[in-house]
Amino acid sequence: MKMIMKAIRIHQYGGPEVLAQVEMQRPAPGANEVLIKVHAAAVNPVDWKMRAGYMKDFLPLTLPVTLGSDVSGTVEEVGLGAARFKRGDEVYASLGLEGGGYAEYAVAKEAILAEKPSTLDHVQAASVPVVGLTAWQALFEVAQLRAGQKVLIHAAAGGVGNFAVQFAKAQGAYVIGTASSKNQAFLGELGVDKAVDYKKTRFEDVVQDADVVLDTMGGDTQERSFKALKKGGILVSIVQPPSQELAAKHGVRALFYGAHPSSSDLTEIARLIDSGKVKTVVETILPLAEARRAHELSESGHGRGKIVLKAA
Ligand SMILES: NC(=O)c1ccc[n+]([C@@H]2O[C@H](COP(=O)([O-])OP(=O)(O)OC[C@H]3O[C@@H](n4cnc5c(N)ncnc54)[C@H](OP(=O)(O)O)[C@@H]3O)[C@@H](O)[C@H]2O)c1
Repeated sequence: MKMIMKAIRIHQYGGPEVLAQVEMQRPAPGANEVLIKVHAAAVNPVDWKMRAGYMKDFLPLTLPVTLGSDVSGTVEEVGLGAARFKRGDEVYASLGLEGGGYAEYAVAKEAILAEKPSTLDHVQAASVPVVGLTAWQALFEVAQLRAGQKVLIHAAAGGVGNFAVQFAKAQGAYVIGTASSKNQAFLGELGVDKAVDYKKTRFEDVVQDADVVLDTMGGDTQERSFKALKKGGILVSIVQPPSQELAAKHGVRALFYGAHPSSSDLTEIARLIDSGKVKTVVETILPLAEARRAHELSESGHGRGKIVLKAA
């Protein structure tokens, strides 16, 4: 039987206008896979970077392709050998860079799925996986952030940043976050110990003894971040490999990190969310059909929290 679904696809690299709504064959789950009825899919900066072709040299897409890594929905069908979930279960996941989330249905390996946080609706849940996993893994797997340590988080009002602030606070760290004037009060609500307005203050003038810097900006922000670290500290960049020369000069470690899908990390994150210690921040909710607008907003680079597409 032919099952048709709506999806937002790109057939070529380009501006937001290359995002097109199409009707296509619903995917079928293969061995150890699950078909998810997508209720909501979040938008991440990597989506428009891939759409524009900025990543095609090291991550070429086989076009046409359905973008979108973050999904929350219900299990529709399970493939051969998939036994962790059954039809109707509420799940959320990062599909990784393979994407497929901007659609009414998406296939995922069951190994990367986790139970949706029970206190969240699907829109809120979809806003979590990519940014939540990135903040979690960068702070705890890579930087090994501990209670009592000092961490500087750039773009603390953004998708990755707001989770990083909340996770670091839940861990008992001292947290400094950067944002522009309009987000200073918001950083206070998130729980930062010190908010720095990056347009008025050079952060390295007021922070020089951080154990950890989470670099979400790269470029000049990354370079100046070395001065914010104490000797023996660590800079983790999620945007650009840092200079090893500068790291050696400042007596710190510095590395690039790319987050990976993880069911167990998502389960831990869901536990924190359901305990009330971590909140989700969704600034914009749009129907799936308005993915172009969602990309324009994400590309502006000054959103607060997440942009989520509602599929059902
Ligand atoms: N390596 C990985 O695995 C990985 C995973 C996820 C994301 N990323 C990358 O990490 C970056 C951040 O992602 P995201 O989802 O958090 O982005 P986002 O939500 O779009 O970030 C928006 C935030 O950036 C802030 N901002 C802009 N310029 C700033 C500056 N100079 N200093 C401090 N804050 C500034 C804005 O605050 P104001 O409006 O107050 O300026 C806004 O709140 C993106 O480049 C993304 O591609 C990498």
